[in-house]
Amino acid sequence: MGDVEAIKRRQQHLWGLGDYSVLSRQLAPAAVELGDACAVSAGQEVLDVAAGDGNFALACAREGASVVACDFSPRMVELGRARSDDEGYDVEWVEADAEALPFEDARFDCAGSVFGAFLTPRPGVVASELFRVVRPGNTVGLTAWAPDSVFIQLFAAARRLLPPPLGMPLPEEWGDEATARERLADLAAHVEIDRRTLVWTAGSPEALGAQLADSAPSFAGAREALSEEQFEELREETLELLRRLNTADDGSVRINADYLVIVARKRG
Ligand SMILES: C[S@@+](CC[C@H](N)C(=O)[O-])C[C@H]1O[C@@H](n2cnc3c(N)ncnc32)[C@H](O)[C@@H]1O
Repeated sequence: MGDVEAIKRRQQHLWGLGDYSVLSRQLAPAAVELGDACAVSAGQEVLDVAAGDGNFALACAREGASVVACDFSPRMVELGRARSDDEGYDVEWVEADAEALPFEDARFDCAGSVFGAFLTPRPGVVASELFRVVRPGNTVGLTAWAPDSVFIQLFAAARRLLPPPLGMPLPEEWGDEATARERLADLAAHVEIDRRTLVWTAGSPEALGAQLADSAPSFAGAREALSEEQFEELREETLELLRRLNTADDGSVRINADYLVIVARKRG
């Protein structure tokens, strides 16, 4: 797969670009779903991994949990701290790689990652780290886009123009139930997987396309790396996809994006 550290430095840079708060608000309902699925409750110690600006951290803090949030992007940690402060929650923010968590073994009641851990280049390493920091018998929760979801189709369009390093695992692999179970088999006593839908809305397909272009790192990366002509091609392809998947008939856009909620209990 090439140089893992170089891949991460590139990803870290991309996640510092764009206005993430737009994307974050669209993903927030999935964080609430994951908190419910993990039965997060008051008094628990919870870790949000690859936390972005803290959707899962805040969903758990609202339940009364004591929360630590981490992300490898300094920009995300900055945004997350500001958002937690604004919302009046005492979340501890730490800059950290999901594949090398700076926490002692068995510290947390729950470690969760909403559309974060599924992006790392070494699925086995990130899974081991999530389980290492959770107490035996307790819970690891993940969300990952289903392979046929709009986001995976968008990633695939970007990959056609900007191929990832050879051998790099694709994020949609975590969204395949059999693969997710296989990756967790040695770590978990029990795995529950549900398919859910996040509804993505905007005033029009064009408005949603512009939102993605302004906030999604895959677009930020494409804008940096592609010629103007190729970037235009990607924007056109994105718009076509959004129009094709649109279920609204009033000029607005409404797209159902399916994802897996994966809840695993650590072996005792
Ligand atoms: C799609 S965002 C999701 C963020 C957040 N969980 C949410 O619900 O909005 C993906 C996040 O994963 C982070 N990320 C990606 N790879 C990471 C890694 N190896 N270690 C830590 N964070 C990582 C990015 O910086 C970004 O904040």
